[in-house]
Amino acid sequence: MKTFDTILPTVSEILAELGSDLKKLTPLVVNRDLNGRVRLIVDEKWRTESDACNTLTTVTQRMHERLEAHAFPPERAVLFEQDMGQILIGATSFPLAGIDGVQVIDRLASEGDWSSIAAIAAPVPRIAFFSIKGGVGRSTALAATAWALARDGRRVLVVDLDLESPGLSSSLLPDDRRPAFGVTDWLVEDLVDNGNELLEHMVATSPLSHDGEIYVVPAYGAEPGEYVSKLGRAWMSKVTDERRESWSERLQRLLHKLEERWQPDVVLIDSRAGIDEVASASVTDLGANPVLLFAIDGEQTWVGYRILFRHWRTTGVAREIRDRLQLVGAMIPEVNTHDYLASLRESAWNLFAEELYDEVPAGEPAMGDTWSFSEADESAPHYPWPIRWHRGFAALRSLHARLEDIDPQEIDTLFGSIVTGLENTLDGANEP
Ligand SMILES: Nc1ncnc2c1ncn2[C@@H]1O[C@H](COP(=O)(O)OP(=O)(O)OP(=O)(O)O)[C@@H](O)[C@H]1O
Ligand SMILES: [Mg+2]
Repeated sequence: MKTFDTILPTVSEILAELGSDLKKLTPLVVNRDLNGRVRLIVDEKWRTESDACNTLTTVTQRMHERLEAHAFPPERAVLFEQDMGQILIGATSFPLAGIDGVQVIDRLASEGDWSSIAAIAAPVPRIAFFSIKGGVGRSTALAATAWALARDGRRVLVVDLDLESPGLSSSLLPDDRRPAFGVTDWLVEDLVDNGNELLEHMVATSPLSHDGEIYVVPAYGAEPGEYVSKLGRAWMSKVTDERRESWSERLQRLLHKLEERWQPDVVLIDSRAGIDEVASASVTDLGANPVLLFAIDGEQTWVGYRILFRHWRTTGVAREIRDRLQLVGAMIPEVNTHDYLASLRESAWNLFAEELYDEVPAGEPAMGDTWSFSEADESAPHYPWPIRWHRGFAALRSLHARLEDIDPQEIDTLFGSIVTGLENTLDGANEP
């Protein structure tokens, strides 16, 4: 039996066998449909050209033989298209590795495809907090970072996009300051054009800010209301007569409006954990830079990140996203700290070197435009910014109460690597 993962390598192999006959047919599209079955899309002009038709027959027969259930029957395996440029618009597509002139259109049942890398947001930098595994202290670190950046005089906008498992805002806001609405309400109201009226009522300022300001946009408002019903609609595209706007485009629109209204210096985004449709918006679709990748040294973490990095390579976007990434070592244990950090760093380097860094031939120095780092390079994306496990933060009943009278030194000791790292990035971004 042939399974899903054999599709693209097999199609590449078949197309490579055609040699120069293939060149004539390009641009050519391989369409992998929702069920994971492939067919070809080619220019209408080849329908009546006998050489081209013979080539297409050869390809579709070979696809049928070698991909079995994952190919359309040969007589239905070619679609002729008047305008080859048009069919790629709005579709998830990427170049087929190793074959010039061939694009793959990949139809997914979900909208988040992890490969539509938005341009880096400007002028207000956005920073995403992401992890493969949940419960690694991501939201706690975000709240502490917001606290520290505000102490240093910055205006920080914090957005809880972990809509299925919200919690961030309660660490920054006491219950009585929670705004009436949250992101989920806006996403639902926007579908019926009510969004603008919510904008003033979905942001609250945190009493924890010192010299700066912390604006908090929670996932839900003072009253969650029919949260499950709202959540089930939040991810909808908005379809009007003129266009279809995906929900991540809607989120972009929301962030722009919030940035315009509250004029923050920086936006911190709490992403959902895991390779999840919703998380893909925070990591790839909102122009976040840097994207903080929280990691604990364990099989599940590295396998998860490897899957993601490979997907970026397969879809040809690794170069666009890789220099936005920064690993964060989460929950560094109190005991055997040194050994743990060394192992974490090694695992991280293995992953980045194998999946994202450019190869440098052994014994040769890296060339100017080569994107590669040594394992010990502290400025490298794989080099973990460490956050230590600390009993004072374990199983907290109220992070808000904890942050209310926290010793600033304690924040710096525990979360200093992120705070300093981000402040350097922000200062760099503001330089002319
Ligand atoms: N540095 C730390 N040391 C010890 N415990 C911590 C630390 N950071 C967070 N915790 C505790 O770990 C638990 C999970 O933290 P948190 O909610 O921040 O994780 P998360 O990654 O955001 O989780 P989720 O994926 O569920 O959103 C909480 O009980 C929190 O108090
Ligand atoms: Mg969280």
